[in-house]
Amino acid sequence: MRRIDGWVGGAASLVALCVLGAGCVVVGDDDDATATTGFDGLYEDYFQECTACHAPDAPGFTEGTEATLDFTTVDTAYATISTGQASGLSGNQEACNGAYFVGTSPETSLIMAVLDEGVRAGFSVESNPGCDGDAISDMTVKVGFAPSEDFLGNLEAWIDELNTGVARK
Ligand code: HEC
Repeated sequence: MRRIDGWVGGAASLVALCVLGAGCVVVGDDDDATATTGFDGLYEDYFQECTACHAPDAPGFTEGTEATLDFTTVDTAYATISTGQASGLSGNQEACNGAYFVGTSPETSLIMAVLDEGVRAGFSVESNPGCDGDAISDMTVKVGFAPSEDFLGNLEAWIDELNTGVARK
């Protein structure tokens, strides 16, 4: 279910929230993929945007593009994010080679850090001391638009579930 300003809306169709005298607010269903906290929902919502660069033979892949992540399908994305470590980074970002995309918490997960400014600024993992806010790139700039708050919340929840061994795909 998706929360809209305290209201819980239906998932499959347009939802009209009406208050007497104040008219109706119609909420579209275009981002209902965020209604699930499973990985499929995360992929449909935003992660599929990463395919342009992070996939074997991706059109946008250049020297220095992170090379472990493979967003070709929901399965390759799940596998490479959930167990992978960054590779192929050079220059400023080199210090992050070897860092896990999913760490022991959302705050120590590189996949979170490239999407959330706060996580990026506070990023600190023992394995990669130089991989900090200055070394980690903002991938929302590469995509061209930011993910929704719903997406970030669902990604956090997914990482927590993965760490407790109950992640749904
Ligand atoms: C236009 C190409 C492009 C797109 C789209 C893109 N990336 Fe990247 N990604 C790169 C490049 C290039 C780098 C290497 C760092 C840099 O040059 O900023 C990188 C680095 C990374 C890194 C390592 C970051 C670091 O600095 O340690 C992660 C993690 C990552 N990308 C995840 C993603 C995710 C998740 C998405 C989709 C939301 C995405 N990328 C979309 C090109 C892209």
